[in-house]
Amino acid sequence: MSSSPRIAEHEIHEHFINRWSPRAFIPEAIDEKTLLSFFEAARWSPSAYNSQPWRFLYARRDTPNWERFLGLLNEFNRGWAQHASALVIVVSKTTFTAPGATEESPALWHTFDTGAAWAYLALQASISGWHTHAMAGFDQDKTREELKVPEGYDLHAAVAIGKLGDKSTLAEYLQARETPSPRMPLSKLAAEGDFSL
Ligand SMILES: Cc1cc2nc3c(=O)[nH]c(=O)nc-3n(C[C@H](O)[C@H](O)[C@H](O)COP(=O)(O)O)c2cc1C
Repeated sequence: MSSSPRIAEHEIHEHFINRWSPRAFIPEAIDEKTLLSFFEAARWSPSAYNSQPWRFLYARRDTPNWERFLGLLNEFNRGWAQHASALVIVVSKTTFTAPGATEESPALWHTFDTGAAWAYLALQASISGWHTHAMAGFDQDKTREELKVPEGYDLHAAVAIGKLGDKSTLAEYLQARETPSPRMPLSKLAAEGDFSL
């Protein structure tokens, strides 16, 4: 049975509806095997020319990297994500070697592909009983420097991963937002033929 009040317009697997992004997490450790299984799911995402441009840098709670990663988030996100079990920075390689080529050329679809990979990660985590929450609110320049991300790689998002906590642990204004969000109607998102959306 779905744990979410969301209603699909068409029949889909409940996993798609059940995934949502909370901010209340139980501050407990995650074992590496479990976390790696989420990246494993991302690894099987499709990509242009199978170029696999996604890269994931991570820190687990209660490890030396934790505070470093937490310090990359903006104040708002740090406020709630400090209770998560893992933090991930999603990176992509901006060039690839085309089939038959010997030199790298711009990978025009690296953002598209990496977005798909993050979605796989989020879905696997959800299926495994965990929650993810992506964040644009982090310092890109600081992250590049702190985590030694070289040129030729773009930074996209930070992701908090954790076990769902009680919303009473959140500031009052966030408690009201702590619920699975709705979606635009499908008729506004998909059209047969010409663009009429
Ligand atoms: C790329 C990206 C950036 C986001 N940035 C933030 C953020 O900085 N802070 C935050 O609280 N939520 C952030 N979110 C969460 C979205 O608001 C959330 O995914 C969206 O409202 C849909 O809700 P759902 O994930 O529960 O389905 C971000 C999500 C994505 C995919």
